[in-house]
Amino acid sequence: MEYRTSHLTQVLIHLEHLTHNMRVLQALVGQRLLWPVLKANAYGHGADMIGRHLVHLGYTHLCVAHVAEAMALVEAGVQATIMVLSATLPTHSEYFVAYGFEPVVCTIEMVESLARAAAKTGRRIAVHLKVDTGMGRIGIQPEDVTAFLDRCHAFPTVWVKGLMSHFACAHEADKAFSHHQIEICRQVQATSRGYGIAVYHWANSAAIFDLPEAYGDAARPGIAIYGLKPSHTLWNHRVHELKPVLEWQTRITYLKEVPAGTGLSYGHTFHTVQPSVIATIPLGYGDGLSQRCSNTLELLVHGRRCRQVGQICMDQCLLDVTPVCDQVKVGDEVVIIGRQGHEEVTADALAAQLGTINYEIVTHIAQRVPRIAVGSAL
Ligand SMILES: Cc1ncc(COP(=O)(O)O)c(C=O)c1O
Repeated sequence: MEYRTSHLTQVLIHLEHLTHNMRVLQALVGQRLLWPVLKANAYGHGADMIGRHLVHLGYTHLCVAHVAEAMALVEAGVQATIMVLSATLPTHSEYFVAYGFEPVVCTIEMVESLARAAAKTGRRIAVHLKVDTGMGRIGIQPEDVTAFLDRCHAFPTVWVKGLMSHFACAHEADKAFSHHQIEICRQVQATSRGYGIAVYHWANSAAIFDLPEAYGDAARPGIAIYGLKPSHTLWNHRVHELKPVLEWQTRITYLKEVPAGTGLSYGHTFHTVQPSVIATIPLGYGDGLSQRCSNTLELLVHGRRCRQVGQICMDQCLLDVTPVCDQVKVGDEVVIIGRQGHEEVTADALAAQLGTINYEIVTHIAQRVPRIAVGSAL
């Protein structure tokens, strides 16, 4: 048995759904480029597997947040041009040059340091200049673009290949602020003509669905490639065509019958109100199931919703499987996210229960949970 995949709690990755979602997104943007975002272990889906599949589908540019993530993709044999989206420090410049990663820059100090590192090797480095059109995170101000590009031109080993920005509110129903950002993108694009920029890229998943004016030359979809909706307030009904790539399952490891009034798990935050059948599952906050959901979740067993009861521990938690007591046995499958019979639990539903977003639910699934590809790859 392969010990790395022996954990009873597993994430199943439906690569055919990834293929489908890429087709949906590609149909929206037409001939334009898609540069999928694989940061944070591909939003919890397993960056190696997702990266390899995207390359297999013909995608040549991938985005991550950090240099270490880019290096992990290379080590996993993912052959693509990798853009590193977050700002970083000059101490990383040599890695960018050595591996050919494309950094996002927004300070002249970073450009200088990259130029020096590139000069040492006799290579030229391609960079993407980030303009802050309203996200307020990183980026130079729009009015500083031409002056910044002039300064970059003083470094022969640096090529400003891309000019980019990021939307703050594209996922909201009210698109007024996004249109304001798009207008700034247009102005910046116009003023930067003549500087040899090859690719203007602005759009995230929400913008791909709702803001065709923001397509530019390339778009950077993240959440949508995994089949999850950027929000519930998008206008474009095509968002409903997305298919979730991830399912999260575990198995029952222990069963017991308990009388009414039995206190369960740490602190006895739950007492049975009737004679009950209680299942133990090897799933806890060490696997990414927040303790904050204790006593609120419903997981699927034999196609029925069963309540999670008592405090969620690090490695185990309990389920009241009384509704399926006739059929349930040790070893049975339990679905945390996914379908079983006619029932489904979605990352959106878990997010709503926890007061967070689907992005956080899937990204929080712990590293120790193996990601297993299922179904045909294409
Ligand atoms: C710069 C940048 N571009 C694109 C994305 C992808 O966004 P989304 O997952 O909403 O499509 C992100 C993710 O936050 C990002 O930081």
